[in-house]
Amino acid sequence: MPRRCPSLRLRSEIIGLKRDRKTERASDAATGLTEDQQLDENHMPYVSPSPRLPVSPSRSTSASAAAKLILCGEHAVVYGRPAIALPLAGIRAHADVADSQVGSGIAVHARDLHRRWRVANDPNGPISQLITSVLSYLEDQVTFTPDLRVSISSTIPIASGMGSGAAVATAIVRALTGHLGRQLAPAEISALVYASEQRFHGTPSGIDNTVIAYEQPIWFLRTGDSLNNLHRPSITPPCAALVPHPPLIEPMSIASPFTLLIGETGVRSATRLPVGEVRRRWQAEPARYEALFDQVGAIVTQARAVLEQGDIAALGPLLSQNHMLLQQIGVSSPQLDALVGAAQAAGALGAKLSGAGWGGVMLALVAPDTRARVLAALEQAGAKRVSATVVNEYRPKPSAS
Ligand code: MEV
Repeated sequence: MPRRCPSLRLRSEIIGLKRDRKTERASDAATGLTEDQQLDENHMPYVSPSPRLPVSPSRSTSASAAAKLILCGEHAVVYGRPAIALPLAGIRAHADVADSQVGSGIAVHARDLHRRWRVANDPNGPISQLITSVLSYLEDQVTFTPDLRVSISSTIPIASGMGSGAAVATAIVRALTGHLGRQLAPAEISALVYASEQRFHGTPSGIDNTVIAYEQPIWFLRTGDSLNNLHRPSITPPCAALVPHPPLIEPMSIASPFTLLIGETGVRSATRLPVGEVRRRWQAEPARYEALFDQVGAIVTQARAVLEQGDIAALGPLLSQNHMLLQQIGVSSPQLDALVGAAQAAGALGAKLSGAGWGGVMLALVAPDTRARVLAALEQAGAKRVSATVVNEYRPKPSAS
């Protein structure tokens, strides 16, 4: 897998995105407390070291990570069929890591959620566990518990199928390891985030953390023993996740640019819920679900071929067929169907839900002459927000042999 390729050009523009940093800052200011005081007020068990040592001007490190979109193949990818995923470079999660008072440990501030906590006081939370696992991965280099403030923010809607959790985790891993003097390879970042996803999402395929860590269009296929996760309890030590049975990941060649509109239902749906329900149904009716997954896999294989040929018009019907299969798998919803139907009726080349379903987002493939009409139809049909992403031509560099 080549390192991040400078020729990759994926652009997202957000229509109607509202984000009010001033309000966030004001709400912090309104408490009249310093960040440390708020931490101590909110989390009583923390006893601050006394007296506090003066802090020198702090060093800080920032990093970000892109949102993602599954173009086709979601759910079936968990069961060993291929899927295609794209990074959305314009919609990102950010993490800043800064030095803090000696002895203060690691404090986290989730700006969008207006939540602050200390890792020591919330050791089992997803972000605390991620931070702990990164430190243990770096244990050769970091033999002490550093004193840090980790601040996170994101423009990726939560529980919307756009990889918000994996992107926040990736930004944290990048910023934290960078701050501690280590530059990790995408495969290492992806594995650390995958372990975190496994702890909280049950049986993720690994596609989200992979496309976000590599930040390029990918063809993704779980192979061999990586599929055994389906039958095992989902806890894997983070470092072990770096070693065994990686999936097949190939950079996707895209011969012609195309535009996707992303319509948000505004309905939050945690990935693990539809993923868990599909698993129950697959266990109850294996033959039926295996046949549905095979049909999805065949569509994804055709989608790869048309993308490589630059035959964008042929991609549309494949996306719409994928949506029908996702309906049969049981992960669509009335809101998703309404948006997909409205996009198709307004002239989209194809449309489907994207991600885990039951809420979240759908995508519509549009030609330049129908883009405005489809956008208006999505808004009319109840989309809470519509973004446009131009996926540009992309040819992966041949890897050095
Ligand atoms: C979620 O973005 C994609 C799913 O296929 C789950 C997974 O692959 O882990 C629904």
